[in-house]
Order: sequence, then C-alpha cells, then structure tokens
Amino acid sequence: MKSFVVLSLFIFAALLFGFPVAKARQSSDAPPAGNAQNGKKLFVGDGCYECHGREGQGSAQTGATRIGPPQLSFEGFQNYVRKPTNQMPPYTSKAIPDQDLADIYAYLKSIPMPPKGKDIPLLNK
Ligand code: HEC
Repeated sequence: MKSFVVLSLFIFAALLFGFPVAKARQSSDAPPAGNAQNGKKLFVGDGCYECHGREGQGSAQTGATRIGPPQLSFEGFQNYVRKPTNQMPPYTSKAIPDQDLADIYAYLKSIPMPPKGKDIPLLNK
C-alpha cells in the first residue's frame, strides 16, 4: 500500500513537472513569428550584410558563410549569433533583441535557394 502511494505521488509529480517541460521544448523548436520586411532592414542596419552580403549570400572576401536561406534551426541560428565560435563578432541580446533576431531569421528564410548549375541553361552549353 505504501509503495502504491509513493508510486502515485511519483506519477503525479511527473505529470505536474514533466509535461510542461516537454511542451516548452517542443515549441522552442519552431521559429518564432518574425517580420521579414523589418528583418530586411535590420539585416542592413545591424551590419550583417557587411560580411554576409545583402541577400545573405556569403562572401569569399570576408569568409562569411551563406546564411540566406539559413540552414540552421532558429535555435542554432540564435546560438551562433550570440556566441560565435570563430571569426564572427558576437551580438548580445542588448545589441540585437531576440525579436529582432527572429525578424532577421524570417527575412533570411524568405530568400530562395540559388538555382543549381545544371538548371542554368547558359552553363550547360
Ligand atoms: C564582421 C563580419 C560579420 C558580421 C558583421 C556578421 N557575420 Fe555572421 N559570420 C561571419 C563569418 C566569418 C562566419 C563564418 C563562421 C565564423 O568564422 O564565425 C559567420 C557565420 C554566421 C552564422 C553561422 C552560419 C552557419 O551556417 O553555420 C550565422 C547564423 C551568422 N553568421 C549570422 C549573422 C547575423 C544574423 C549577423 C548580423 C546580426 C551577422 N552574422 C554578422 C562574419 C560576420
């Protein structure tokens, strides 16, 4: 009987604390709603374009990778901008608030992938 009480308490606690955590995790995977138009302005205003190019196409001169469209999840994107591991300067949430970053991400997401070489007629003559 005693172990039954302990077990049900345990299950109750798991229900109480376990599920909200799982839910919170799930929702953070989806990119937050961002305004692509505002993101385009921020991409220029915050200086991302200086290294990554106007369309986030990347640049051989600066060594900045193509980030339009981003290959990272929003979480990975945000983590990189906050704590880059190589040449890129870090941007704190004071410099670029989370919502601004979500807007920039939405802008980059709106950029189409470049066509593949085999799909460009001039390159296939
Ligand atoms: C001074 C140049 C510079 C600026 C400004 C800059 N970046 Fe970068 N960024 C880089 C370089 C170089 C890399 C390649 C990795 C490295 O060396 O850190 C990079 C990599 C990244 C990556 C990782 C890409 C990947 O797929 O791994 C993201 C995301 C990114 N930049 C976003 C941004 C955003 C958003 C901004 C503007 C807020 C910005 N960067 C401004 C130079 C810059």
